[in-house]
Amino acid sequence: MSTNPTDRVIPTWFITGANRGLGAAIARAALRAGFNVVAAARRPASVEAALGGDHAGKLFAVALDVTDAAQVRQAVDGALARFGRIDVLVNNAGYGQLGPFEEIADEAIRTQFDTNVFGLMQVTRAVLPTMRAQRAGQIFNISSVGGLAGFAGASVYCASKFAVQGFSASLAPELAPFGIRVTSVSPGFFRTDFLDNSSIRYGDQGVADYADASSALRSQYDGYSHQQAGDPDKLADALLAVAADPRPTVHFVVGADAMDITRQELDRVQADIATWADTSAATAHA
Ligand SMILES: NC(=O)c1ccc[n+]([C@@H]2O[C@H](COP(=O)([O-])OP(=O)(O)OC[C@H]3O[C@@H](n4cnc5c(N)ncnc54)[C@H](OP(=O)(O)O)[C@@H]3O)[C@@H](O)[C@H]2O)c1
Repeated sequence: MSTNPTDRVIPTWFITGANRGLGAAIARAALRAGFNVVAAARRPASVEAALGGDHAGKLFAVALDVTDAAQVRQAVDGALARFGRIDVLVNNAGYGQLGPFEEIADEAIRTQFDTNVFGLMQVTRAVLPTMRAQRAGQIFNISSVGGLAGFAGASVYCASKFAVQGFSASLAPELAPFGIRVTSVSPGFFRTDFLDNSSIRYGDQGVADYADASSALRSQYDGYSHQQAGDPDKLADALLAVAADPRPTVHFVVGADAMDITRQELDRVQADIATWADTSAATAHA
C-alpha cells in the first residue's frame, strides 16, 4: 500500500480520538503530508479547535464514541461517502483506569475494556470490509508499553492494553493475505492530557491497606502530567514513516523509555524460561 500523496489516489487516514493528544498530533501530521483525514471524536466541534479549518476539503470531522455501535457504523459510512476509501485506520481513542485492582469497581473495569478493547474491535470490524475489498490497508492499534509490561497500580489499564497486543499480533497474520498490515503501537510516556483529570481515572473503592500506595501513585502521576518526555508530534511523524515503509511492522515500541522497559521485560521472560526450562519441557505425554 502506498501512502505517498504524489500517487494518484490520496490516502485516507481514519483516526479515533482525533480531537486532542496523540490522535490530534497524528491527524495534523497526516494533513501536513497531504492526506485525507477523517478525524473522529466524541465532540466533533472540538476537532476544528484542535486542527484548524477545513484544510482544502481534506479534513472531515465525524462524531464517534467508540463504544456506540450505531455511531461507529455512521462514522465509517460517512468517511466512505466523503473519500471513497480508508487506507489507514488509527485506533487511538482510549484512557487509563489506574489504581490498585481491589480499589476499582467491576463497572469501571468493564467501562475500561468497552473503550480500550471492545470499542477498538468494533471500529476495526466496521473498516475491514473496505480494506479487504481494496486488498490494502494499514491498521495502527494504539496500545502502550503497559501492553507489554505490567506496572503496580495499572493492572486494569495494562490488562486492556495487553488485550490490544494479543488482538493485533493475531490479526496481523490473519489479514496479511489481503494486503492489510496491522501494527500495535506501544508508546512510553508522551505529553498529552492522558494523566490529567480530563482523562485519567482512579479507583474509588478505598481499601485501607492500599491507602499509602494509592496516594503515592496519584501524586507521582499528577506531578508527571504534562511533563512527560515524549513529544506527540514526533510520534506522529514516526507513525507516518512506519506506514510508508515497505517492511510490515507488527510491534512499534515508541520512545526511549518504552524500549528500555520492554527490553527489561523480555529479559525477565527469558530468565524465567531458563529457570524452569527442564521442568517445563518435561510436561508432555510420554
Ligand atoms: N500519552 C501517553 O503517555 C500514552 C502512553 C501509552 C499509550 N497511550 C494511549 O494513547 C491513546 C491516546 O491517548 P492520549 O495520550 O492522546 O490521551 P488524551 O490526550 O487524554 O486523549 C485521549 C483521546 O481519547 C478519546 N476518547 C476516550 N474515550 C473515548 C471514547 N469512548 N470514544 C471516543 N474517543 C474517546 C478522548 O476523547 P475526549 O476528548 O472526548 O475525552 C481523547 O480524544 C490512548 O489509547 C492511550 O491509552 C498514551
